[in-house]
Amino acid sequence: MEDKIRVLLSEEEVDARINEVAAQINADYAGKPIHLICILKGGVFFTCELAKRLSMPVSLDFMSVSSYGSGMESSGVVKIVKDLDEPLEGKNVLIVEDIIDSGRTLSYLIEILQKRNPNGIKLCTLLDKPERRVKKQVKVDYTCFTIPDKFVVGYGLDYDQKYRNLPYIGVVELEQ
Ligand code: IMP
Ligand code: MG
Repeated sequence: MEDKIRVLLSEEEVDARINEVAAQINADYAGKPIHLICILKGGVFFTCELAKRLSMPVSLDFMSVSSYGSGMESSGVVKIVKDLDEPLEGKNVLIVEDIIDSGRTLSYLIEILQKRNPNGIKLCTLLDKPERRVKKQVKVDYTCFTIPDKFVVGYGLDYDQKYRNLPYIGVVELEQ
Protein backbone atom coordinates (compact mmCIF):
# COMPACT_ATOMS: atom_id res chain seq x y z
CA MET A 1 0.00 0.00 0.00
CA GLU A 2 1.23 3.51 -0.76
CA ASP A 3 2.20 5.68 2.20
CA LYS A 4 0.46 9.03 2.48
CA ILE A 5 2.89 11.94 2.53
CA ARG A 6 1.83 15.38 3.70
CA VAL A 7 3.97 18.36 2.67
CA LEU A 8 5.63 19.95 5.70
CA LEU A 9 8.09 22.24 3.91
CA SER A 10 7.68 23.00 0.22
CA GLU A 11 10.52 23.02 -2.29
CA GLU A 12 10.30 26.83 -2.43
CA GLU A 13 10.49 27.20 1.35
CA VAL A 14 13.51 24.90 1.56
CA ASP A 15 15.22 26.70 -1.30
CA ALA A 16 14.69 30.13 0.25
CA ARG A 17 15.93 29.00 3.65
CA ILE A 18 19.10 27.40 2.21
CA ASN A 19 19.84 30.76 0.57
CA GLU A 20 19.64 32.45 3.98
CA VAL A 21 21.81 29.88 5.75
CA ALA A 22 24.40 29.96 2.96
CA ALA A 23 24.54 33.75 3.23
CA GLN A 24 25.13 33.42 6.97
CA ILE A 25 27.96 30.91 6.42
CA ASN A 26 29.52 33.15 3.75
CA ALA A 27 29.47 36.05 6.19
CA ASP A 28 30.87 34.02 9.10
CA TYR A 29 33.75 32.48 7.15
CA ALA A 30 34.59 35.77 5.38
CA GLY A 31 36.37 34.12 2.45
CA LYS A 32 38.24 31.47 4.45
CA PRO A 33 38.25 28.04 2.77
CA ILE A 34 35.70 25.53 3.98
CA HIS A 35 35.81 21.72 3.95
CA LEU A 36 32.33 20.24 3.75
CA ILE A 37 31.77 16.75 5.09
CA CYS A 38 28.58 15.33 3.70
CA ILE A 39 27.04 12.56 5.77
CA LEU A 40 25.72 9.95 3.35
CA LYS A 41 23.20 9.25 2.16
CA GLY A 42 20.69 11.68 3.61
CA GLY A 43 22.96 14.73 3.54
CA VAL A 44 23.65 14.55 -0.17
CA PHE A 45 20.82 16.71 -1.54
CA PHE A 46 21.30 19.43 1.06
CA THR A 47 25.09 19.41 0.66
CA CYS A 48 24.84 20.02 -3.09
CA GLU A 49 22.34 22.85 -2.70
CA LEU A 50 24.36 24.47 0.07
CA ALA A 51 27.72 24.10 -1.68
CA LYS A 52 26.43 25.83 -4.83
CA ARG A 53 25.61 28.91 -2.76
CA LEU A 54 28.94 29.23 -0.94
CA SER A 55 31.37 31.85 -2.18
CA MET A 56 34.61 30.86 -0.43
CA PRO A 57 36.91 28.05 -1.73
CA VAL A 58 35.00 24.82 -1.04
CA SER A 59 36.31 21.25 -0.81
CA LEU A 60 34.07 18.25 -0.28
CA ASP A 61 34.37 14.86 1.30
CA PHE A 62 31.88 12.13 2.14
CA MET A 63 31.37 9.84 5.05
CA SER A 64 28.85 7.09 5.61
CA VAL A 65 27.93 5.86 9.04
CA SER A 66 25.35 3.39 10.14
CA SER A 67 23.87 3.48 13.57
CA TYR A 68 22.75 0.02 14.47
CA GLY A 69 19.05 -0.13 14.94
CA SER A 70 16.18 -0.35 12.58
CA GLY A 71 13.06 1.49 11.54
CA MET A 72 12.73 4.94 13.03
CA GLU A 73 15.12 4.81 15.98
CA SER A 74 18.94 5.13 16.03
CA SER A 75 21.01 3.29 18.62
CA GLY A 76 24.06 4.61 20.44
CA VAL A 77 26.42 2.37 18.47
CA VAL A 78 27.73 3.97 15.30
CA LYS A 79 29.81 2.18 12.69
CA ILE A 80 31.85 3.91 9.95
CA VAL A 81 30.74 2.35 6.66
CA LYS A 82 32.79 4.70 4.48
CA ASP A 83 35.52 6.89 5.92
CA LEU A 84 36.71 10.23 4.54
CA ASP A 85 39.21 10.23 1.66
CA GLU A 86 41.15 13.29 2.86
CA PRO A 87 42.89 14.17 6.14
CA LEU A 88 41.33 16.99 8.22
CA GLU A 89 44.53 18.54 9.59
CA GLY A 90 44.24 22.34 9.62
CA LYS A 91 40.90 22.41 7.78
CA ASN A 92 37.78 24.45 8.62
CA VAL A 93 35.37 21.55 8.71
CA LEU A 94 31.63 21.95 8.29
CA ILE A 95 29.67 18.73 8.78
CA VAL A 96 26.50 18.72 6.68
CA GLU A 97 23.67 16.50 7.92
CA ASP A 98 20.09 15.92 6.89
CA ILE A 99 18.63 15.78 10.39
CA ILE A 100 19.71 15.78 14.01
CA ASP A 101 17.39 13.60 16.01
CA SER A 102 18.74 11.99 19.19
CA GLY A 103 22.17 13.47 18.37
CA ARG A 104 23.87 10.12 18.92
CA THR A 105 25.31 9.88 15.41
CA LEU A 106 26.80 13.38 15.47
CA SER A 107 28.07 13.16 19.01
CA TYR A 108 30.09 10.07 18.07
CA LEU A 109 31.25 11.52 14.74
CA ILE A 110 32.43 14.83 16.17
CA GLU A 111 34.41 12.97 18.80
CA ILE A 112 36.32 10.89 16.26
CA LEU A 113 36.81 13.74 13.77
CA GLN A 114 38.21 16.05 16.48
CA LYS A 115 41.08 13.58 16.90
CA ARG A 116 42.17 14.28 13.32
CA ASN A 117 43.23 17.83 14.22
CA PRO A 118 41.03 20.05 12.09
CA ASN A 119 41.28 23.79 12.57
CA GLY A 120 37.68 23.64 13.78
CA ILE A 121 34.49 21.67 13.35
CA LYS A 122 31.09 23.23 12.84
CA LEU A 123 27.79 21.54 12.24
CA CYS A 124 25.10 22.43 9.72
CA THR A 125 21.80 20.59 9.46
CA LEU A 126 18.79 20.86 7.22
CA LEU A 127 16.43 19.77 10.00
CA ASP A 128 16.57 19.62 13.77
CA LYS A 129 14.20 17.75 16.07
CA PRO A 130 15.33 19.13 19.44
CA GLU A 131 12.51 17.40 21.35
CA ARG A 132 14.17 14.08 20.62
CA ARG A 133 17.70 15.03 21.73
CA VAL A 134 19.46 12.54 23.98
CA LYS A 135 22.99 13.91 23.50
CA LYS A 136 22.42 17.46 24.73
CA GLN A 137 26.07 18.42 24.24
CA VAL A 138 25.74 18.39 20.44
CA LYS A 139 25.90 22.03 19.39
CA VAL A 140 24.32 22.85 16.04
CA ASP A 141 25.86 25.93 14.42
CA TYR A 142 23.49 26.25 11.45
CA THR A 143 19.93 24.90 11.30
CA CYS A 144 17.63 25.44 8.35
CA PHE A 145 14.44 24.29 10.09
CA THR A 146 13.47 23.18 13.56
CA ILE A 147 10.64 20.68 13.24
CA PRO A 148 8.33 18.85 15.65
CA ASP A 149 8.79 15.20 16.57
CA LYS A 150 7.45 13.72 13.34
CA PHE A 151 9.10 11.23 10.97
CA VAL A 152 9.92 13.10 7.77
CA VAL A 153 11.09 12.13 4.30
CA GLY A 154 12.32 13.83 1.14
CA TYR A 155 15.25 16.07 0.28
CA GLY A 156 17.59 13.15 1.07
CA LEU A 157 15.68 11.68 3.99
CA ASP A 158 14.28 8.20 3.60
CA TYR A 159 11.80 5.76 5.00
CA ASP A 160 13.18 2.28 4.26
CA GLN A 161 15.35 3.83 1.50
CA LYS A 162 12.31 5.35 -0.22
CA TYR A 163 11.41 9.00 -0.87
CA ARG A 164 14.92 10.49 -0.76
CA ASN A 165 14.28 12.10 -4.14
CA LEU A 166 11.18 14.08 -3.15
CA PRO A 167 12.00 17.76 -3.78
CA TYR A 168 10.12 18.79 -0.60
CA ILE A 169 10.02 17.62 3.01
CA GLY A 170 6.98 15.58 3.94
CA VAL A 171 5.55 13.72 6.89
CA VAL A 172 4.77 10.04 6.41
CA GLU A 173 1.27 9.32 7.62
CA LEU A 174 1.47 5.64 8.47
CA GLU A 175 -1.53 3.43 7.88
CA GLN A 176 -3.09 2.50 11.21
P1 IMP B 1 20.38 10.53 15.52
O1 IMP B 1 21.66 9.76 15.72
O2 IMP B 1 19.27 9.97 16.36
O3 IMP B 1 20.51 12.01 15.66
O4 IMP B 1 19.87 10.14 14.08
C1 IMP B 1 20.21 10.81 12.99
C2 IMP B 1 19.88 9.99 11.77
O5 IMP B 1 18.63 9.28 11.92
C3 IMP B 1 19.68 10.90 10.61
O6 IMP B 1 20.90 11.17 9.96
C4 IMP B 1 18.70 10.13 9.76
O7 IMP B 1 19.39 9.25 8.93
C5 IMP B 1 17.87 9.36 10.75
N1 IMP B 1 16.60 10.06 11.03
C6 IMP B 1 16.25 10.67 12.18
N2 IMP B 1 15.02 11.21 12.09
C7 IMP B 1 14.58 10.95 10.83
C8 IMP B 1 13.37 11.28 10.12
O8 IMP B 1 12.43 11.93 10.60
N3 IMP B 1 13.31 10.82 8.84
C9 IMP B 1 14.30 10.12 8.24
N4 IMP B 1 15.45 9.80 8.86
C10 IMP B 1 15.59 10.21 10.16
MG1 MG C 1 21.59 10.58 8.13
